[in-house]
Amino acid sequence: MCNSLAFPSPLCFPPPSCDGSVLRATHSPLYLLVIPFTHGSVYAVYGLYGRYVYDYSTLVEALARYRVAMIGSGAWACAAVRMMAQNTLAHDPADNFTDEIKMWVYEEEYEGRKLTEVINETHENPKYFPGFDLGSNVRAVPSIDEAVADADLIVFCAPHQFMHSICKQLIGKVKPGASAISLTKGMRVRPEGPQLISQMVRRNLGIDCAVLMGANIATDIGREQLSEAVIGYDNLDSAERFKKLFERPYFRVSLLPDPVGAEMCGTLKNIVALGAGVVDGLGLGPNSKATIIRQGLVEMRAFSKALYPSVRDDTFLDCCGVGDLVATCYGGRNRLVAEAWTRAQMSGTPRTFEELEAELLRGQKLQGVLTSNEVQEILRARCWESNYPLFTTINRIINGHLPPKFVVDYVVSELMRGSQMGDGTQQN
Ligand SMILES: NC(=O)c1ccc[n+]([C@@H]2O[C@H](COP(=O)([O-])OP(=O)(O)OC[C@H]3O[C@@H](n4cnc5c(N)ncnc54)[C@H](O)[C@@H]3O)[C@@H](O)[C@H]2O)c1
Repeated sequence: MCNSLAFPSPLCFPPPSCDGSVLRATHSPLYLLVIPFTHGSVYAVYGLYGRYVYDYSTLVEALARYRVAMIGSGAWACAAVRMMAQNTLAHDPADNFTDEIKMWVYEEEYEGRKLTEVINETHENPKYFPGFDLGSNVRAVPSIDEAVADADLIVFCAPHQFMHSICKQLIGKVKPGASAISLTKGMRVRPEGPQLISQMVRRNLGIDCAVLMGANIATDIGREQLSEAVIGYDNLDSAERFKKLFERPYFRVSLLPDPVGAEMCGTLKNIVALGAGVVDGLGLGPNSKATIIRQGLVEMRAFSKALYPSVRDDTFLDCCGVGDLVATCYGGRNRLVAEAWTRAQMSGTPRTFEELEAELLRGQKLQGVLTSNEVQEILRARCWESNYPLFTTINRIINGHLPPKFVVDYVVSELMRGSQMGDGTQQN
């Protein structure tokens, strides 16, 4: 495409009446002027040496574009890579991204073949996200080093229990100047204190790491049903770039300058979802579940602020807070497995969470039980257990120290006492 005839003389750069936007290509000393005309856009590049280019393909060559890597290949990783692949293929005027996205797949056998081969042949991940075309521009790779080698933008979306070994493997392997975003929900507990996944990435790899959190159940997003998310960020440039990479007509992304609050919400809601599953397993109705959700939100906020005082209150009212909490307490996998677990307990034929995870999730990972145990370790170590009665009660139930009906009995007893029930902000 070449519109050089329609373009005003380079001498009047930028043209006085032009309301086009000037964009900077981050990796090059070039400036791109985009001017809307009736016959399409016209592009000009103004370089350090005063050079002008009127030809679109020359311009695209001249502009550095970001290479994207996805680390993870489970249900959410696949739904996210599908959105990104739609965006990297759809060339906007600035064409910010290279088309291909490398997706690191933890290699395993699927019906006698390597999963990476099946994905590359069918453009679908039949084990973790069956029925969805990921895009022909997604390339599954079994080598994590290869996935990140030339990546400018790295998206982390592996279950949190694997993230520490992933980060260790990647030390010294990522491109200097790359930036990352974590979609993983969960935290790591170390003797010296908790560590969020974004902090782990930053510390091990020395790169910026934002987070993307929201009410994002993978299959609904695969079906392109309306959903929203926030990007919690420290670095605005990088957050805006990731917003472009993820946003779709059915996936609304907004920016939130509270990355820690957003990540804490995504982590803690999985504990509350277990409580919601217990309520469902007991056959109780929406009133009881709403009580658990409300109390869960109170404890999520109190715990987050107790650990990280800079966390903002309004984050909990955003889609990463109450939005994600409601979605996960109705439609998430932690709720599903906790309901089945409770029914089994109540019927006198108990099953373990591991058995039900394998049976109901077919390879997908349950995060809530691990997270509940990790958070409880922190509560115990800091003598905070009594400030978080719902978290503590759920933890005792899932570890067999209390019967499931205690999930509501404790609420009743707390209500009778007229307590604030865990709004432990001042008590810690
Ligand atoms: N599924 C959802 O709807 C959803 C939505 C939002 C956020 N999340 C979060 O996204 C994160 C990733 O979840 P998901 O749904 O993409 O994954 P998943 O639970 O569907 O799949 C498990 C993944 O773990 C991989 N795996 C298994 N063993 C491994 C190992 N030893 N090392 C590394 N990887 C291994 C598998 O290959 C698979 O890709 C989690 O933190 C989850 O809480 C999930």
